[in-house]
Amino acid sequence: MLKILVTGATGNVGREVIRLLLSQDCNVCAAVRNPNSAKQILGSNIQSVPFDFTKPDTFERAFLQVNKLFLVRPPALNNVRKQIAPVLNAAKLAGVEHIVFLSILGAERNPFVPHSKIERYINQLGIKATFLRASFFMQNLNTTHREDIKARGELLMPAGNGKTSFIDVRDIAAVAVRTLIEDGHQEKAYPLTGAEALTYYEVADIFTSVLGKSIRYNPSLLKFVRQMRSSGLPMDFVLIMIAIYTTARLGLAGNITSDTQQLLNRSPLTIRQYVEDYRQFWL
Ligand SMILES: NC(=O)c1ccc[n+]([C@@H]2O[C@H](COP(=O)([O-])OP(=O)(O)OC[C@H]3O[C@@H](n4cnc5c(N)ncnc54)[C@H](OP(=O)(O)O)[C@@H]3O)[C@@H](O)[C@H]2O)c1
Repeated sequence: MLKILVTGATGNVGREVIRLLLSQDCNVCAAVRNPNSAKQILGSNIQSVPFDFTKPDTFERAFLQVNKLFLVRPPALNNVRKQIAPVLNAAKLAGVEHIVFLSILGAERNPFVPHSKIERYINQLGIKATFLRASFFMQNLNTTHREDIKARGELLMPAGNGKTSFIDVRDIAAVAVRTLIEDGHQEKAYPLTGAEALTYYEVADIFTSVLGKSIRYNPSLLKFVRQMRSSGLPMDFVLIMIAIYTTARLGLAGNITSDTQQLLNRSPLTIRQYVEDYRQFWL
């Protein structure tokens, strides 16, 4: 039976991938740093193996008899040569046949982002791969921005009046599972977006209407930096977020593709649907 190893299994996308793979005819294994806390998140019936990108002694056991790998780069690991390449070398050595990698929209045009370096390294190793180049996650709004929305009724991000083609991680996971299970997706790269591009003013209106309380959009860069720093986020992470929101402000994050729709045979989830499904996060 096909054995699929899922990294980032306790994260936004990975946990959905695990959930969906459990109903497929395959052997799914979560590669996790802490099997006990992973069980609490993923359920006690999930098979897991200890794995840490920064601990090479965990690689051999994790990749034992693995056919396919769902690869998530943990956001804190930016040094591809030191922190990701050794994992890919181990995957190659273990005979992994196919990697589905969670990449980022536009990776092919920006050689400096880690995702682009990872894509190139996978190709260099000659492992067959599918690159899922995802747009901005809706779920950033119930993780990174949750407290701003919940406690202060504010969407605080320096994105000006630019539009973003948000995607729901549940759709990314559904695409990931299809590309892992089905033939025909090797050596392909899919740019994945939602079906609509919205400004944060429009997103705030949707929050207000669904939650039944006023949520305002505040595009102040200064307040954004102060707020992120006071919530304990490191400066390099804040700078990356500023770069991402500047892309949106400049009108470069609003492109919509049809790949998600084609791969799922249905419309991608909308922001309104997402806010309805996740409403308890902000109440
Ligand atoms: N956010 C966006 O809008 C967006 C858009 C496109 C692409 N992306 C990319 O998506 C990726 C993040 O995906 P996500 O949001 O699903 O992840 P996430 O929720 O940030 O979770 C990170 C995962 O990585 C695991 N992890 C952290 N350090 C690890 C280590 N040293 N060894 C093994 N596992 C480790 C964490 O496990 P623990 O439980 O052990 O902490 C967790 O499962 C990033 O590469 C990001 O650039 C994000």
